[in-house]
Amino acid sequence: MNRLRLTTAGESHGPGLSVVLEGLPAGLRVDTARLALDLARRQHGYGRGRRMQIERDVAEIRGGVRGGETLGSPVALWIENRDWPNWRRAMAAAAEEIDAEFAELRRLKSPRPGHADLAGGEKYLRRDLRDILERASARETTGRVAAGAFAKMLLAALGVEIRSGVRALGPIGADRPAPTWEEVAAVDDESPLRAIDRDFEPAMIALVDDAKQRGETLGGAVTVIARGVPAGLGSHVSWSAKLDGRIAQAMMSVPAVKAVELGAGLAAANGYGSAAHDAILPRGEDGRFPRASNRAGGLEGGITNGEDVVVTLYKKPIATLREGLPSIDLDTGEARRSQYERSDVTALPAAGVIGEAMLALVLADAALEKYGGDSMAELLLHAAASRELVRRWPES
Ligand SMILES: Cc1cc2nc3c(=O)[nH]c(=O)nc-3n(C[C@H](O)[C@H](O)[C@H](O)COP(=O)(O)O)c2cc1C
Repeated sequence: MNRLRLTTAGESHGPGLSVVLEGLPAGLRVDTARLALDLARRQHGYGRGRRMQIERDVAEIRGGVRGGETLGSPVALWIENRDWPNWRRAMAAAAEEIDAEFAELRRLKSPRPGHADLAGGEKYLRRDLRDILERASARETTGRVAAGAFAKMLLAALGVEIRSGVRALGPIGADRPAPTWEEVAAVDDESPLRAIDRDFEPAMIALVDDAKQRGETLGGAVTVIARGVPAGLGSHVSWSAKLDGRIAQAMMSVPAVKAVELGAGLAAANGYGSAAHDAILPRGEDGRFPRASNRAGGLEGGITNGEDVVVTLYKKPIATLREGLPSIDLDTGEARRSQYERSDVTALPAAGVIGEAMLALVLADAALEKYGGDSMAELLLHAAASRELVRRWPES
């Protein structure tokens, strides 16, 4: 990100998560209900493990906000881990607080294929693979969701809204076409899986139940859509400026996401050009050139074209299986099943909320890059002027 900088710190079973988001303009009204709602939405979902019943995330604002408005200084947040007292003796920062016997009991020494354990252990030369697990855990994404809520507040001031839903769980819904804004906007946040198609939900729930019983895990696909995105964010001029690439990087950084699709990208790759693109229609009264379809998912040449930005994240099944997978014991070097640690069967509904946060951060960053400004008033003035110039183009 060029204008926004996000840093999160904290281990999954440490005292909590620290979040610093730099680059927000002054004068952004902070919607604490939005912040609380997104944190709760991340924790919701059928198929989550017991951890989600322990945690009730609250982000405490510790800097950058005064009287309900940002100051232009870094926004600092603190999110406590409620599970901390149970782990203190193994996870404390001070050596004298560690109970060696307890820490050894909690040690991870049979790496899970598909997790960061082995690769991270080798890279950082850690004897206890917990040192890797603790940070690779998706607990870290709580911080991203909290920061993403601030990005959403900024985008809301520009008229942008972001929603998501579960498009496919395992094979169920796998060949469903990319959803529309209306479809994701209608997703019921209270529904067990936040499925885009409620008709699929009973079969999805049955699949999760069956997987749980068999000690299996599941992946699938979630689609995130942003509506009201101004045309002209991002640029074609350099590989690093292309907004499609920046969105893909942000989405691929969500743990366990292994593929990212814009619009109808996958289906388009299998067909002809005449069926892959979006006809340009005569200018409407709002000054825009509407499109007959949105297969491009709102981006052409790495630039937003004013249509909805449609991104699908494909998530692999979770790597922690009850019976483990073929692995090794680091102490003996012998074959041993990978270790089990309390885990989700699937975390797809949460992945959608995390995807919303990542898209919000990237779009807010691109909006700040295009419109600039130290205050919200300045940003909004520049955005309005820019819209007017585009409306007059090419005459202007
Ligand atoms: C919301 C969410 C929850 C997750 N929960 C678990 C879990 O309970 N157990 C697990 O092994 N992996 C879980 N993962 C996936 C791992 O964090 C991820 O596979 C791991 O960090 C390795 O990274 P990679 O899969 O991106 O290569 C979760 C991912 C997300 C997005």
